[in-house]
Amino acid sequence: MHLPATATAASLLLLVEAASASSTAKPPGINRQKIVQSFNVRRNSSSKITPLQVGNGNLAFGADITGLQTFLPFNTLSTWGWHNFSLPSPVTPDNFTGLDWETHGRLVNYDQPNPAEQAISDWLIQNPQRINLARLGLDFGNLTSASGKPITEADLTNATQILDLWTGSIHSSFSLNGTAVEVETWAHPEEDMIGIAIRSDLLASGDLGLFIDFPYPDTNKFDAPFVGVYPNASASAAANDDTFQTVFDPWYGTIQRTLASVDGTNGTNAANTSYYLQLQWNNYGHFSKPDPGTKGRYVLTAANSTEILFVAAFSSAGDFVPMSFGGLSDESSDWWTSYWNSGAFVDLTASNSSEAKELQRRTVLSQYLTVVNSASTNPPQESGLVNNGWYGKFHLEMAFWHLVHFSRWGHFDLLARSLPDMYTRFLPSSIDRAKNQGYKGARWGKMTDPTGRSAPGEINSLLIWQQPHPLYFAELHYRAYPNASTLHQWDDIIMATADFMASFAFFNKTTGVYDLGPPLYPVSETGNPNATINPAFELAYWRFGLDVAIRWKQRLSRNTSTNATAAVPQPWIDVRDKLAALPIVNDTFTTYEGIPNMWTDPATVTDHPALAGIYGWLPPSTSGPVPLNLTVVKNTADKIKSTWDLKASYGWDFPLLAMNSLRLGDVNQALAYLLDASFSFDDAGYPTGGSRVPAPYMPSSGALLQAVAMLAGGWDGSPGPHFPVEWNAIVEGFSVGL
Ligand SMILES: *[C@@H]1O[C@H](CO)[C@@H](O)[C@H](O)[C@H]1NC(C)=O
Ligand SMILES: *[C@@H]1O[C@H](CO)[C@@H](O)[C@H](O)[C@H]1NC(C)=O
Ligand SMILES: *[C@@H]1O[C@H](CO)[C@@H](O)[C@H](O)[C@H]1NC(C)=O
Ligand SMILES: *[C@@H]1O[C@H](CO)[C@@H](O)[C@H](O)[C@H]1NC(C)=O
Ligand SMILES: *[C@@H]1O[C@H](CO)[C@@H](O)[C@H](O)[C@H]1NC(C)=O
Ligand SMILES: *[C@@H]1O[C@H](CO)[C@@H](O)[C@H](O)[C@H]1NC(C)=O
Ligand SMILES: *[C@@H]1O[C@H](CO)[C@@H](O)[C@H](O)[C@H]1NC(C)=O
Ligand SMILES: *[C@@H]1O[C@H](CO)[C@@H](O)[C@H](O)[C@H]1NC(C)=O
Ligand SMILES: *[C@@H]1O[C@H](CO)[C@@H](O)[C@H](O)[C@H]1NC(C)=O
Ligand SMILES: *[C@@H]1O[C@H](CO)[C@@H](O)[C@H](O)[C@H]1NC(C)=O
Ligand SMILES: *[C@@H]1O[C@H](CO)[C@@H](O)[C@H](O)[C@H]1NC(C)=O
Ligand SMILES: *[C@@H]1O[C@H](CO)[C@@H](O)[C@H](O)[C@H]1NC(C)=O
Repeated sequence: MHLPATATAASLLLLVEAASASSTAKPPGINRQKIVQSFNVRRNSSSKITPLQVGNGNLAFGADITGLQTFLPFNTLSTWGWHNFSLPSPVTPDNFTGLDWETHGRLVNYDQPNPAEQAISDWLIQNPQRINLARLGLDFGNLTSASGKPITEADLTNATQILDLWTGSIHSSFSLNGTAVEVETWAHPEEDMIGIAIRSDLLASGDLGLFIDFPYPDTNKFDAPFVGVYPNASASAAANDDTFQTVFDPWYGTIQRTLASVDGTNGTNAANTSYYLQLQWNNYGHFSKPDPGTKGRYVLTAANSTEILFVAAFSSAGDFVPMSFGGLSDESSDWWTSYWNSGAFVDLTASNSSEAKELQRRTVLSQYLTVVNSASTNPPQESGLVNNGWYGKFHLEMAFWHLVHFSRWGHFDLLARSLPDMYTRFLPSSIDRAKNQGYKGARWGKMTDPTGRSAPGEINSLLIWQQPHPLYFAELHYRAYPNASTLHQWDDIIMATADFMASFAFFNKTTGVYDLGPPLYPVSETGNPNATINPAFELAYWRFGLDVAIRWKQRLSRNTSTNATAAVPQPWIDVRDKLAALPIVNDTFTTYEGIPNMWTDPATVTDHPALAGIYGWLPPSTSGPVPLNLTVVKNTADKIKSTWDLKASYGWDFPLLAMNSLRLGDVNQALAYLLDASFSFDDAGYPTGGSRVPAPYMPSSGALLQAVAMLAGGWDGSPGPHFPVEWNAIVEGFSVGL
C-alpha cells in the first residue's frame, strides 16, 4: 500500500467510519454513534501526562503521538502481571506479626507495620507490585534529525491522532522528512492482545521498524506517568534476574520473560514471574535481538513491504494463538459498537449550555475509560491500567466507586468479570482475618493484591467502610435479576459479611446500644482511631447493609419455602435495631460521636465529606428506631458547603456531594459540584489525581457515572431524569436506583 505524503485527519476519519459501518447491532433511539464520535479525542502532540489508551479492562496499552510508546514510554499494564522482589534475608511473610491494639477490653491483632519487623513489613507493603509488561515503539534505525541527533517528536511534522471511541482504536499519522507514517493501534476486547498496523515507505527502505523493550520493576509507591526502570538495567546486577528465551521465525516470534525472586530464608527461587509475548505479523520479517550490554530492545523490520500488520499476545501461560490483525480489529469494532449500543445512555446535545456539553463529554469519555481500565477480573487500582499507584495494588473500599456504575448503566456483563467472584476468592483469607481478631464472618481487606493479602498499614487495618460494599452490589444485582440464581451466588458472601458486621459492633451495657469502634478510621481517614466511636456514615451503612442481609435471608427462605423469620440470624436483627443513633450536634451530623469542634477545626472539615453519603449514597433506612431526619441532612449539607475545605477535596468527593444535593432536590447545586474546578478531567477524559493520590484517579470516573445515573435514572420514589428541564435531556436504559 502506497500512502500519500501526508495522511490527514480527514482521511483517518474515513477509515474510522468504514470500520464502524460493519455494525449489525440495532441502533437505539438516540443516535449514540454520532454523540460518541463527536467526543473522539484528537491530539497533534503527545501529552506529557496522559497517554491515549486501547484496552479491555484486563490489559491496556498507553500510546504517545505515534500511537505506540515510541518517544514517551507510557505503559502496558494488566490485571495478572505482578512481581515479587526477593525476600529480605532471613525472614518470610510468616515472620510478620503486626501489632496488638486494645479493643474493647481485649488485645486485637492488626496488620500494621511493626518497628521490630521493619524489613518484612516494608516488603509486604511493596510486594507484589504490578509490572509494566513491555514497551512497543517505532524504531528509526539509522535515521537522524537534520542535525544528526536521534529522532525525537520534534522531528515529526503534521502529526495527527484520533482515538475513535466507537471502535476502540487509535489512528495516528505524521511525516518524517517528507515521508508519511501511519499507525493504527487496537486491543482485542476479551483476550490480552494488541494489534498494530504500521504503513510507510520507510518500512520498505529498512529505516523503520518496531521495537520491543522491557522495563525492570521498581518499588515506587506512585509510578506515573511511566512504570518501571529504563533502560532495563541489562548491565546491572538486576539483569541477572531478568532472562529472556526467544524463538523467532519470519512470521512469528515468542519472547518468554522470567523475573526471578529469591526466598530470604533459603536462597532458592521462590516466586518467579514468567510471562510470554507471542508475536505474529503479516510479511516476511526479521527480528534482531538486543546487543548484550548496549540497547535492550528487540527490533522487527520487514523490508519487503510498506506495511506491517502486527499482533502481540500477552499471557502468563504462553498458550494463545494470536489472531490476524484484521480479525482483531474486526472483533474490537464489533465489541465496542455493541457496547455503545447496549446499556443506558444520556443525550444532552439538545442543550446549548456549556455545562451540558462538558457533562456529556466527561460522561462519554468516562464510559470509554472505565471499560479500558476498570472492567477487570480484579477490582482496578486507583490509576486503572494507566499508571501504578500504591504499587499497583487495589483498594477494596474503592471497589464501590470503580464498579457500581456498571450496574446502574446496565453493563452487568462487565461487572460479572469481578463480582461476586472476587469476594468468593477473598472469602477464606477474610474469614481468617476476622477469626484471628476474634470476630465471626469475614473482614474484607483493604490495600489488596490478587492473593487477597491486605498490605500492612495503620489506616489499612482500621478502615471499615469496605465491609458493607458486597451488600450494596448484591442488592443492585438482585434488583436487575431477581431470581434464585442471584440469591445463591451471593449467599455465602452475604452471610460472612453480615456475620462480621454484627460481631464487630460492640454492645455497650451502659448505653444499651451497639457501638462501632474504637479503634477505627472513618472514611475521611482523619482523627485519632483510639478515640473514634460511632462514625455517622459507617453507622448508616451498617444499618443499610444489615437490612439488605436480612431481606436476602427472607427472600431465600421464601424461595426455598422455609420459615423466613427463622432463617435470619438473630444477631443481625439485634445489631441493626439497636445500633447507636447517628451522632448529631447543633442540628447537624458529626463525623463521629464526641468529635470536638466539628465545624470549626480545620483538621476536621477536610478530606472525604462522608456525611454527604448518609443520604447521597444510601437510601434512607427502612429500619431502626429513629427515621432519618431530613432537616439534619439538609443542615449538614449546608454546613459542608459553607465550611468544608473543598479546595483540598478530590475525586469522588464531588459526585458524592452532588448525589446528596440531588436527593435534597437541589439540581443546580448537584451540577455545580460535578463541574467544580477541583474535579477536573483532561482532554482525553482522564480525571486528575493530586499530591496524595495517583494520577489519573479513576474512582472519579466511576463516581461521575454513578452520579449521572442518579440524574438520569433517579432513585426509589423519585425516578429520573432530573436534569434541568431546559436541557431537554433524553435518557434511555436506566432503571431506578436505590
Ligand atoms: C494542534 O491542536 C491544537 C488543539 O486542538 C490546535 O489549537 C492547534 O492549532 C493544532 N496545531 C496544529 C499544528 O495543527
Ligand atoms: C522467622 O520464622 C522462622 C520460622 O517460624 C523462625 O525459625 C525464625 O527464627 C524467624 N526469624 C526471625 C528473624 O524472627
Ligand atoms: C492506640 O492505642 C494503641 C494501644 O492499644 C497504641 O499502641 C497506639 O499507639 C494508639 N494509637 C494512637 C494513634 O494513639
Ligand atoms: C531527508 O530526505 C532527503 C531526500 O528526500 C535527504 O537528502 C536527507 O538526507 C534526509 N534528511 C534526513 C535527516 O534524513
Ligand atoms: C503538512 O500538511 C499540510 C496540509 O495538509 C501540507 O500542505 C504540508 O505540505 C504538510 N507538510 C509536511 C512537511 O508534510
Ligand atoms: C544502518 O547502519 C549500519 C551501520 O552503518 C548498516 O550496516 C546498515 O545497513 C544500515 N541500515 C540501513 C537500513 O541503512
Ligand atoms: C525454600 O523456600 C521455598 C519457597 O518458600 C520452598 O518452596 C522450599 O521448600 C524451601 N526449601 C527448603 C530447602 O527449605
Ligand atoms: C524478503 O522476503 C523474502 C521471502 O519472501 C526473504 O527471503 C528476504 O530475505 C526478504 N528480504 C528482507 C530484506 O527481509
Ligand atoms: C459506652 O458508651 C459510652 C458513651 O458513648 C462510652 O463513654 C463508654 O466508654 C462506652 N463503654 C464501653 C465499654 O465502650
Ligand atoms: C417462624 O419462626 C419464628 C422464629 O423462630 C417462629 O416464632 C414462628 O412461629 C415460625 N413461623 C412458622 C409459620 O413456623
Ligand atoms: C429533626 O431535627 C430538627 C433539628 O435538630 C429538629 O428540630 C426536629 O425536631 C427533628 N425532627 C424529628 C422528627 O425528630
Ligand atoms: C454548638 O453551637 C454552640 C453555639 O454556637 C457552640 O458554642 C458549640 O461549640 C457548638 N458545638 C459544637 C460541637 O460544634
